[in-house]
This record gives sequence, C-alpha cells and structure tokens, in this order.
Amino acid sequence: MIKPIANYEAYLEAYQKSVDQPEAFWADVASHFQWRKPWDKVLDWNFDEPKISWFEGAQLNITENCLDRHLAEHGNKLALIWEPNDPKERFVRYTYRELHEHVSRFGNVLRKNGIEKGDRVCIYMPMIPELMVAVLACARIGAVHSVVFAGFAAHSVADRINDSGCKMVITADALNRGAKQIPCKAVVDEALAECQTVEKVIVFERVGWPVHMEPGRDFWWHDELKGVSAHCEPAVMEAEDMLFILYTSGSTGKPKGVVHTCGGYMVYTAYTFANVFQVKPNDVYWCTADVGWITGHSYLVYGPLLNGATTLMFEGVPTYPDPGRFWQVCDKHAVTIFYTAPTAIRSLMAAGEDHVLSYSLDKLRVLGSVGEPINEEAWHWYHIHVGKERCPLTDTWWQTETGGIMIAALAGVSPLKPGHAGYPLPGVQPVLLDQEGKEIEGNDREGYLAIKFPWPSMIRTTYGDHERCRLNYFDTYKGYYFTGDGARRDEQGMYRIIGRVDDVINVSGHRFGTAEIENAINQNEHVAESAVVGYPHDIKGQGIYAFVVCREKEFDPVNLKGEITETVVAQIGKIAKPDKIQIVSGLPKTRSGKIMRRILRKVAEGDISNLGDTSTLLDPLVVDEIVEGKL
Ligand code: PRX
Repeated sequence: MIKPIANYEAYLEAYQKSVDQPEAFWADVASHFQWRKPWDKVLDWNFDEPKISWFEGAQLNITENCLDRHLAEHGNKLALIWEPNDPKERFVRYTYRELHEHVSRFGNVLRKNGIEKGDRVCIYMPMIPELMVAVLACARIGAVHSVVFAGFAAHSVADRINDSGCKMVITADALNRGAKQIPCKAVVDEALAECQTVEKVIVFERVGWPVHMEPGRDFWWHDELKGVSAHCEPAVMEAEDMLFILYTSGSTGKPKGVVHTCGGYMVYTAYTFANVFQVKPNDVYWCTADVGWITGHSYLVYGPLLNGATTLMFEGVPTYPDPGRFWQVCDKHAVTIFYTAPTAIRSLMAAGEDHVLSYSLDKLRVLGSVGEPINEEAWHWYHIHVGKERCPLTDTWWQTETGGIMIAALAGVSPLKPGHAGYPLPGVQPVLLDQEGKEIEGNDREGYLAIKFPWPSMIRTTYGDHERCRLNYFDTYKGYYFTGDGARRDEQGMYRIIGRVDDVINVSGHRFGTAEIENAINQNEHVAESAVVGYPHDIKGQGIYAFVVCREKEFDPVNLKGEITETVVAQIGKIAKPDKIQIVSGLPKTRSGKIMRRILRKVAEGDISNLGDTSTLLDPLVVDEIVEGKL
C-alpha cells in the first residue's frame, strides 16, 4: 500500500526525484501494486503524435488491486458506505469481501450476456451501489466503461453510445433526486431509437417505476443475477489497454471521449489519493461527486478502493430534505475526509451557518475542493464553519483529461493559501506560457497553463479520433500538453487557477463548450443563430448567457425563451439550461463573419464601460442594441 508523504521536506525530496528521475520515481510507486507481469519499460513518449505509454509490457487487472488484494487482511473492512437520498431509508454497507462478491457476480452477468474484453458498455445510472458494481464489473472482465451522467438527455446519451459503439447499456428504472424522481430507462429507450450497436440493456430496479422492457433486449438486473457464480476470473489486461472512456466538452464540436488506460491510471489515482488526502487506515472518506464525472471515477471509486479505504457514496443532493443534509451525513457516518465542489459550498453558505452547527463534525480531519476556482469567501466559510479552522483545506486542480489531481496541497503537509491550488504534485511539471508558447520564467507571473512532461494518468487519445486529441491538447503549444486554463504563479510559486481561456464554460463544476449549447439552441425552429458566453454567477461559478437571433420578425419573447430552454433541456439536459436568454436582432460580427465573443462576454459580465473598438464590425449599431437590452 502507498505510504503518504509525511512532511514538507519529504514532499520537496519526492518532487525533485520525480523530475530528475521520473522513471525510477514511478517504478517505485508502481511496485506497490499487484501486476500479473512486470513492465519492460516505464515510459515511452512524445507529445507530437502524441504517444504516451506507461509500464509497457506489464499486465494487470485493476479490480484485483481494488478488491482481491485487500481480502486476506482487510476482507471485513468497509469498502463502501452508501447513504440514500431519503434519510429515512436504510443505508447500505459493503465490506471488501462483499463488494468483491457483488462485482464478481455482475462480471459474470456481463460475460453471460456476451460482453467480452474490449467491448464498450454505457452506464447510465443513479448514485447507488450498483453503479460502482457495474463500473468495477466492466473493469473485471476487461470491458471499457463509458459512464454517462444520469442528468443528460436522450440525444446526448445517444451521441455518446454511438461515438464509442457501445454493445450494452446498464441503467435503472428511475432515480431519486431530492423530492423528485427522474426516469432513466425511458431516457435510454429514447436514446436507443437513434442507436444501432446496443444489443442488450440491463435494468436495475431502484424506484419501482413502470418501465417498458423490450423482449430479447432488456433484462432485469435481479433476474440476471440468479444462479450466477461468485467467482469471476479477472481479464488480464495490458497496462495500455483501455480502462474507460469519459466524455467531456471542449471548445469545438461534440463532446469527446477521453480515453484512460489501465496501468498508469491505477498508479496515479492511487498515489494522489493517498497523498493529497493523507489517508489513514480508519478514515471514512466522502467524495460528493457523481460517478458520471471524472472526480467520481478517480476519487470515489478507484483511488479509495486501490488504497483499501472506506468510501462513502451519496445518492441525494446537498439541500434535501434541508441544507443540513451534507453535515448530517458527515455526523451519521463519522466522516473524516470530505471532498466537494465550490458550487455546493456556496449554496450551503447562502443557507446560513445554523445548518452546520446542528451536527457534530468532530471527526472531520481533511477538507477538499474540486471542479472550479473556489472564491476566497467560500474557502473561508468552508474552512471556518465546516473545518472549524483545524482541518487543512486542499484545493485540487485537475481535469477529465489529467485523470488525477495535478496541483494541490497535500493536506496538512503543504502550505495553504485561499484561492490557490498551490504546488504541483510529484510527477507534475506545470509551466506558464505566453501567447507565443514561450515559457514564462519566475514568480508573480500569469500565463497559459501547460504541462511539459507526461504523468501516468494523462489522456491517451480521444476515442476514435486521435487527431482530435492532438489538435486539442498538443498542437497549440508544441511540446506541451495544453490545459485550456489560465493561471497565476504567486510570489512563492504557488499556482492560482484563473479559469478557462478557451470557449469552455464551467457551470456548477460541469463543463460545456459554448458551441455545444449553441448547437442545441439552433435546433429550435425559430432560431436563426445564437452565441453563448459564460458570466460570473454567485452560486454556480459561471452562468450561461445566450444571445439569440430569431428567424421571424414577430414573436412572443416569453414563449420563445421558454421554447429555447426546452430545446436545450431536450438536447443536452437540465444541467445546460441557459440562465439568461437575450433575443437580439443580430450578433456583433467582424467583416469576415466571425462572432466577436469578447464583446458579448463583456455585456454578459455587465462590464460595458470599455467594449473596445467596435468600428470594424459589420454592423456596429447592433452592439448598442445588445447593450440596451442587457439582462
Ligand atoms: O478550468 C478548470 C476547472 O475545471 C476544468 C476541468 O473540468 P473537468 O474536466 O470537468 O474536471 C473537473 C474535475 C477535476 C479545469 O480545466 N477546475 C477543476 N478544478 C479546479 C478548476 N479550476 C480551479 N480550481 C480547481 N481546483
């Protein structure tokens, strides 16, 4: 098992070694795992193609490392605590032995239904233990999981299924979310009308909703488990075999399938989990992220299990039945490490301290933040009222593409500074680049954040389109992985992430490309064209502001806005609902037809004092109209 770095000097030493001798450094970390066959070469790489290969020649199965290897000594330790949406419903606890058995049985269900190594399986499920079981069962038999967040609408689910040619979908009848119940199976049915590759659908009954079951295609989870053996031989995987695909939004086109592979992902997520959270054997660790996002993959499922930790999974939302729910769960299960997103903190902060004060948070030892910049006010509130000023609060910067945490304090080991992710983890070599792609030396400087050396869990490709991966991440600045973020290095060399510098917006920690939302809006028959920008939002971090040009001269603005919202919800899901829609007669464009987003961003941000030179626009008057109609 990985022993966390104990003090700051040891961190500096580990960091130096990871830069001077990266292969020796990672070989040493990797030696803490169970491999079926050792590697021939630790690292082979170039950022031109790009080609990144870690632990080439090695063989493993990640679930043997997550589960089997803990059984002898820790089989009766809790692997999973599951807390339901409704506080009155019974919670569920699985020991490592029980989780191993569930995963093995379900692995056999997958095999029985024709799933083989390398097949892609779409998982569209609520936050229930079976979601974790489904993910691990895929990994057990070498199938590639593609978890799709259960808030996405049918069309988005279909796009993702089609892009990776999934053979199976695993879903549930419906899900509980606060006071609401939301269909899952019906969404899958609608999606499958657009898909050709799916042969079978396995449905877990969570809510008891009536669902349509297509004969020969759809099967109940509980029926399939009948008489299935609890022994499931793990598939032997090459280190660079695909482990999973996770779709994420970029600045252009449709969401892309980020590919992570078995060996490097395992080593890096386990290492970073142990070190960032400074995990101890008796910790109860709770990451509030949904498994539909990378945080749920790396730090709810894989990272904790690889370390033999107890991980808590929560089905509900922070505000149901009231805004004390998170703290009640911490109290109830004696949570020691708590990892959440700034948007949740901001919304609970708005509900007042009383909810926090009603519960005992004595056991809490470490706090974490992820997904977006945490503003100082939220940082202090979290640190003071939740952490009682005694829990280190680590702000963790990373991305779907990085697989694991890149820049963050090791809790209680590294210095903390509100609003700053801090220093890079061992193995991570960040740089700031200027417009020309030249490295900016020294501290107290700002630039584009890039990484100049590979780390084990970095993106390998975008599924089915390697060139897209190259263009997106490795082409803007030759020789670097470009993150799409801007950052500042302060006087002490600590990093502060400023935010995206591309056309990606981060709404409550969810990533959307502006083009993706525009494409959805443009599906509405009344819309001629649209432009979407982000603007600062008190709770969500960024809100979605859409400027829309209507086809018709006469229209009812209220109806039209309602229809546009419905279109976006139907195309992407409620999570992408625009916060503001301004109907305009035209968009500010250059003479060559390019939309001047800079101007729209300023209007959306309410900063109209300096819109820059608008005289070169095709129709400068349109700007006056937009400013006047600002929402
Ligand atoms: O802009 C950064 C922001 O979220 C982006 C990555 O989004 P996603 O792939 O969905 O992964 C989110 C969870 C890892 C980044 O490019 N971001 C993430 N964490 C932070 C952050 N911005 C500031 N501070 C963070 N701690």
